[in-house]
Amino acid sequence: MKINGSVALVTGANRGLGQAFARELVRRGAAKVYGAARHPDAVTEPGVTPVALDITDADRVAEVARQCADVSLLVNNAGVLTYSNFISAPGLDAARLEMETNYWGTLSMCRAFAPVLGANGGGAIVNMLSVSSFYTNPFDASYGASKAAEWSLTNGVRIELHHQGTLVVAVHASFIDTEMAALTSEPKDSPDSVARQAFDAVEAGQVEVLADERTRTVKAELSRDHELIYPPVQKFWDDALKGRG
Ligand SMILES: NC(=O)c1ccc[n+]([C@@H]2O[C@H](COP(=O)([O-])OP(=O)(O)OC[C@H]3O[C@@H](n4cnc5c(N)ncnc54)[C@H](OP(=O)(O)O)[C@@H]3O)[C@@H](O)[C@H]2O)c1
Repeated sequence: MKINGSVALVTGANRGLGQAFARELVRRGAAKVYGAARHPDAVTEPGVTPVALDITDADRVAEVARQCADVSLLVNNAGVLTYSNFISAPGLDAARLEMETNYWGTLSMCRAFAPVLGANGGGAIVNMLSVSSFYTNPFDASYGASKAAEWSLTNGVRIELHHQGTLVVAVHASFIDTEMAALTSEPKDSPDSVARQAFDAVEAGQVEVLADERTRTVKAELSRDHELIYPPVQKFWDDALKGRG
């Protein structure tokens, strides 16, 4: 689909990658860009129309889908990462928050906007996933589970919306230079680069973006994950536990 002249909505548009998505849409000539955020006053990108939206509030999601009935490109960017593991996290709250936001929130957005996109010629959905959709790492284990669920829903929604001509693009990335990845000193891609790759895929009709070398490597190694992916993760975790002990 052409972004020039389209009407887009980006969730979590107030900062980080969401702000970069909104900026890139304006740069590519989108006729209107709705910047959805829990605190719409924080949506400051020039040319972006703020919309109040918490994606975990199903009533509000439905209301926004009614209000923004001209949308042809939905960018599900909003997400949370708590850096929690499965066993020694103090409870289930962090895992539930990640699943509630990354999985249920995104699913709720897809369901509410599917008829809107259909009525507007099909359009496209971009779901912002992660390299963590592909494998589990104890440092962000419950986040990985939520992103794996979100990857699964992305593949399913693509199949279910094919009949109405909706392109569903999965964007997987390793670390991106935003607040979410502030704790790590690993190499990071720029939000602008990820946004450009995502919208190049939308314009080219491609269903998947593997935004960086690490993400491409992990995806390529999936069929041999217990030989290639998990042994170094195990060693890193065991060493970390020894370091703590
Ligand atoms: N940064 C990375 O290394 C990285 C790598 C791969 C994938 N990702 C994914 O990229 C996306 C954007 O992350 P980011 O790096 O820009 O992180 P970020 O800087 O932490 O921003 C997260 C955004 O999501 C919003 N958000 C969280 N919960 C929400 C909710 N319930 N309703 C509406 N908005 C909500 C936040 O709004 P508030 O300001 O109100 O909190 C904020 O705008 C996420 O889906 C993330 O999982 C990030």
